Amino acid sequence: MEEERFLTADKLLGENELDVTLRPKTFEEYVGQDRMKSNLRVFIEASKKRGEALDHVLLYGPPGLGKTTMSHIIANELNVNLKVTSGPAIERAADLVSILTNLNENDVLFIDEIHRLNRSVEEILYPAMEDYNLDIIIGKGPAARSMRLNLPKFTLIGATTRAGMLTGPLRDRFGVICRLEMYTPEELSIIVRRSANILKLKMTEDACKEISRRSRGTPRIANRLLKRVRDFAEVDGNGTVDIKLAKHALNLLDIDDLGLDALDRKLLDAIITKFGGGPVGLDTLSSAINEDSTTIEDVIEPYLMQLGFISRIPRGRICTKLAYNHIGVKYPGDTVAKQMSFSDGGAQNDE
Ligand SMILES: Nc1ncnc2c1ncn2[C@@H]1O[C@H](COP(=O)(O)OP(=O)(O)OP(=O)(O)O)[C@@H](O)[C@H]1O
Ligand SMILES: [Mg+2]
Repeated sequence: MEEERFLTADKLLGENELDVTLRPKTFEEYVGQDRMKSNLRVFIEASKKRGEALDHVLLYGPPGLGKTTMSHIIANELNVNLKVTSGPAIERAADLVSILTNLNENDVLFIDEIHRLNRSVEEILYPAMEDYNLDIIIGKGPAARSMRLNLPKFTLIGATTRAGMLTGPLRDRFGVICRLEMYTPEELSIIVRRSANILKLKMTEDACKEISRRSRGTPRIANRLLKRVRDFAEVDGNGTVDIKLAKHALNLLDIDDLGLDALDRKLLDAIITKFGGGPVGLDTLSSAINEDSTTIEDVIEPYLMQLGFISRIPRGRICTKLAYNHIGVKYPGDTVAKQMSFSDGGAQNDE
């Protein structure tokens, strides 16, 4: 792709610093995901009472919803050290062995993008997760012998945007599996308000709601939009963000009323005008709009599905009436329904 997409839920370059300042540090500060939070609270409490390591936890869901944040909070609540690494960073089995043998009792090991671990590394992880053992081979050739090492009891937290890409054996070794959901506008508005306070930014309630509504259910995007709007407030405004300024800034960023950007609209437009509303397969769609199929699946579609704009059926994707309305194209189903109701006189469902 030519240019980095502003509305991507992935981290943009240089965004780390903002992430760290705005990142919640406790369960109280972590907004939403109530079921996950209340479950984890119980499991953490119980493991602390028993003085044991918490069961291994898998966090999965689209980017920017708070997986990394939650792993920090878990370690924090457990009062243990957190060691952070990622699937692609652990290249060789020996790298993982060295990480594991350096953990302290009950520590948390966070492996981001755990679906990208390579096979030989993953196989070391199985006995380590299951009974805190390592089977390693020492020496080469006929003199080689296998040795079993005991590891400290630890908690593995794995994070992934693609739970479907995890192998069965790895997935089965997680005692706690949590799926993160997209946030409601109300939840996002609490997050935006909190972030504005941290950034010492004055903002009216309707401006806060406007930003939340256009953040595609994603805290990372909400914080990014807030930061951009703050730039406009500092340069064009009087330092306070009101609804007029918020709308002005968001329109200049080409983010529409529902938080869709040019790429989202391009996708909807392609399904509607090039493929008659669908169904269209992922690969066809990907070449039609010249966009990576992974990006379409992981980044663009989840929010469009959440809005009810597209649905997946076995033969591909289809656009719903809501999408037609948003793009401003007449929904063909309406005319069909009308013709049918003329012919049989009965009321028709418009879907
Ligand atoms: N529940 C929440 N409450 C408040 N802020 C949140 C919440 N979840 C995430 N955030 C904010 O969004 C930012 C992005 O979250 P985080 O880095 O944890 O996402 P992630 O799921 O790990 O994304 P990725 O898949 O890209 O690694 C955080 O820095 C934090 O400021
Ligand atoms: Mg993360």
